[in-house]
Amino acid sequence: MTAYTGGILTISDKGSRGEREDTSGPQLQEMLREQGYSLVAYAIVPDEITIIEETLRTWVDEKKIDLILSTGGTGVSPSDLTPEATRKVLDREIPGIGEAMRLASLQKTPNAILSRGIAGIRKESLIINLPGSKKAAQENLAAVLPALQHAIYKIK
Ligand code: MTE
Repeated sequence: MTAYTGGILTISDKGSRGEREDTSGPQLQEMLREQGYSLVAYAIVPDEITIIEETLRTWVDEKKIDLILSTGGTGVSPSDLTPEATRKVLDREIPGIGEAMRLASLQKTPNAILSRGIAGIRKESLIINLPGSKKAAQENLAAVLPALQHAIYKIK
């Protein structure tokens, strides 16, 4: 069986300017590799709706990546716009993924409710928003990772 492909999109103004090292992106790449995914795309972009949206469209429509994980920009600061950009490209949302991540994360920190991350389907790709810190990204992905290969299988 061919491995599903994965893409990691780190969304951070400072990261995109090279002023902050991206630790979440490599962490997520490692978690996907452990599950057998083939990593085919990685980028760091600023918190700008049009850039996030264009990157997601390209990764789905041209690269046809099976699973796209974004990290960062899900919170409540004025600059946190990842869910708004993601919603623009989704055909259908999967609310249970965000619900499960927040429920699991609430066992770790009350701040879990501050992530507004969403997830859903565009064409035959699955897109999931994760929070920005390495710890938060890892904990959120761990909560849903076991269901993702089945989800990708079903959406094709
Ligand atoms: N979820 C888990 N599991 N662990 C965490 O440490 N941090 C929270 C939340 N979700 C956190 C978490 C915090 S402090 C914020 S502000 C939100 O995710 C949004 O993060 P973001 O703006 O970096 O995307």
